[in-house]
Amino acid sequence: MIYLDNAATSFPKPPALAETMKDFLDTEAVNPGRSGFDLSLRAGLRIDELRQNLASYFNHPDNDPNRVVFTANATDALNLAIQGVCHAGDHVVSTVLEHNSVLRPLFELQKMGITHDLAPCDERGFVHPASIEKLLRPETRLVIMTHASNVLGTIQPVQRIGEICRAKGILFLIDTAQTAGVIPVDMKATHADLLAFTGHKGLMGPTGTGGLLVGNKVEVRPIRWGGTGVRSAVRGHLEEYPYRLEAGTLNTVGLAGLGAGLEWARNHDAFNTETQLTNRLLEGLDDLPSIGILGLEKGEKDINLAGRLSVISLLIDGMDPAKAGMFLDADWDIAVRTGLLCAPLVHEAMGTLQGGTIRISPGPFNTPQHIDQLLEALATF
Ligand SMILES: Cc1ncc(COP(=O)(O)O)c(C=O)c1O
Repeated sequence: MIYLDNAATSFPKPPALAETMKDFLDTEAVNPGRSGFDLSLRAGLRIDELRQNLASYFNHPDNDPNRVVFTANATDALNLAIQGVCHAGDHVVSTVLEHNSVLRPLFELQKMGITHDLAPCDERGFVHPASIEKLLRPETRLVIMTHASNVLGTIQPVQRIGEICRAKGILFLIDTAQTAGVIPVDMKATHADLLAFTGHKGLMGPTGTGGLLVGNKVEVRPIRWGGTGVRSAVRGHLEEYPYRLEAGTLNTVGLAGLGAGLEWARNHDAFNTETQLTNRLLEGLDDLPSIGILGLEKGEKDINLAGRLSVISLLIDGMDPAKAGMFLDADWDIAVRTGLLCAPLVHEAMGTLQGGTIRISPGPFNTPQHIDQLLEALATF
């Protein structure tokens, strides 16, 4: 099988991932830090070390590992951040590029008197800082922005938007689901107060892992309460991080895997590998006039300059994307994602709300031969 759906989740994973998880399960998978015996302390240290590595990887403004909070995925982290900082009467600004993991919480919060506005994107798939700035109001509490679109691959000007928010004292939350592990994600440089990440995409970890980094100037209200393993006699949930936002036993086996994934991502330039594959794909598509690319023009080959990840949405003249996906799977054993990609407003902006698109997202383990096979298959449509 040729897997070209890495924007959904990276596959395959680096071999070290399964080895580390198996080893952890076999030798160390007790409840971390919950008990005083040696193995529990060792498991706790492993989790602490991962917090430290993530704080440094994302350049947490205070390099504070305790403010790296583990969650089940990016959706969980985004929910925690959004619900944890907004109150009735607050206003939120976000964009039409967002994934449903941002849009749906925002629509849900409307019922509690938290309003929002969404900035548009241009036809190439970029949100302009000025269009965010225009929507800010005195009661705007939070700006939420995806670092890169999961439909168009366009990398957004988060640094400039962060500067605007910081100057106005508005909290800035970045959704790095598509970028973490692929391009640098720097909390300090982007003036992000909150950063949500997922473990199972570019960070090459297993599903069920992710987290929220919380800057030291912001307090996030817990949205769940429970056991923390320390100071159990205290009636209320603990105030200090990371306990404040974590309740119950962590996904330690997954986090052991995430540690291995992070290590791999730090030592490999996935962006470079994937960019070369994408350039090859774009060049090949030049010979297939019945296929169009959404967002950045097909002719725009310098994808570094244009600022995009290797996430490409295609349309084939006269063919339903779902049907194309079925042919690619059944006849060519090529796995791609088709339809609406959990970001309905991008499809609305691009005029593809009906059938969606065909999304190709190569990963670090794809080869030029995989792209050639895909081009050969697409040429038959
Ligand atoms: C931009 C973006 N945000 C959030 C998410 C949600 O990630 P997760 O599935 O880890 O919750 C995704 C997943 O596709 C995404 O692409």
